Amino acid sequence: MATETHALASPPAGANADWTVDQDWARFTPEEHRVWDTLFARQAKLLPGRASDAYLRGLDVLKLSKPGIPDYRELNARLMDLTGWQVVAVPGLVPDDVFFDHMANRHFVAGNFIRRADQLDYLEEPDVFHDVFGHVPMLADPVFADYLAAYGRGGQRALGLDALKYLGRLYWYTVEFGLIAEPEGLRIYGAGIVSSFSESRFALDDPSPNRLGFDIARVMRTEYRIDDFQQNYFVIPSFDALLKATVETDFAPLYAALKAQNDIPVAEIVEGDDILTRGTQDYAQGKAA
Ligand code: PHE
Ligand code: FE
Repeated sequence: MATETHALASPPAGANADWTVDQDWARFTPEEHRVWDTLFARQAKLLPGRASDAYLRGLDVLKLSKPGIPDYRELNARLMDLTGWQVVAVPGLVPDDVFFDHMANRHFVAGNFIRRADQLDYLEEPDVFHDVFGHVPMLADPVFADYLAAYGRGGQRALGLDALKYLGRLYWYTVEFGLIAEPEGLRIYGAGIVSSFSESRFALDDPSPNRLGFDIARVMRTEYRIDDFQQNYFVIPSFDALLKATVETDFAPLYAALKAQNDIPVAEIVEGDDILTRGTQDYAQGKAA
């Protein structure tokens, strides 16, 4: 993720100058492939009727149902034809400027390890299942593909404007935890949700979280939780609308204005919110009690 702090300042031994490493697909053990298959089967069953159309189409056209951890060489051949994106392996979290540079050039940096069989639901760092199952299907969608590349350029700019906090929230509430209003109802598209067994139900079905209409400034002011389910989800009307709103807004004056305003705590509703569901916050309160 773009907003973490990173211990490393230069690529670790064995990595290329751009921080990438060879996926070295042949090194994955049968047990590691089985972890992927277990996670895949569990999620694939849950997602029809919950995940956005674009996500489900991506899963299909990229042939991600083929058993085992995907080989990036195979995946990239398909992705290149569809949207020009490529998945590149990195040894762990990379510095923000490296992350944005890859993204602006349509390189999606992905983890190079898979969680252990006894940790299917607990993750400290994104692994191949989160990165590939969660993110990559959306990269097969031409509009979302353009959005993420534009986001990379926006990141390079935000670094210079000391505004990563704000731009990082846009990533969080769209790329990681976004919802979309489709004709048949609300659907999930954020990678953090679609790759999570429990949050893929919570985000749509639970009465606890707020579900608010997407608004760039509102999103950028809103704090988020990294250690539990979200208390707010933001709903876009379409990927076209998301792309248009973000590309056509100059974020520099927006960042300047936001620096003079308070951040909004996770569960708070403020004046002007487009409230689709006002959350009970029972889940969060139950945890605190
Ligand atoms: N419009 C943004 C800016 O002025 C760039 C951007 C586009 C950021 C799309 C995110 C997504 O910085
Ligand atoms: Fe992610």
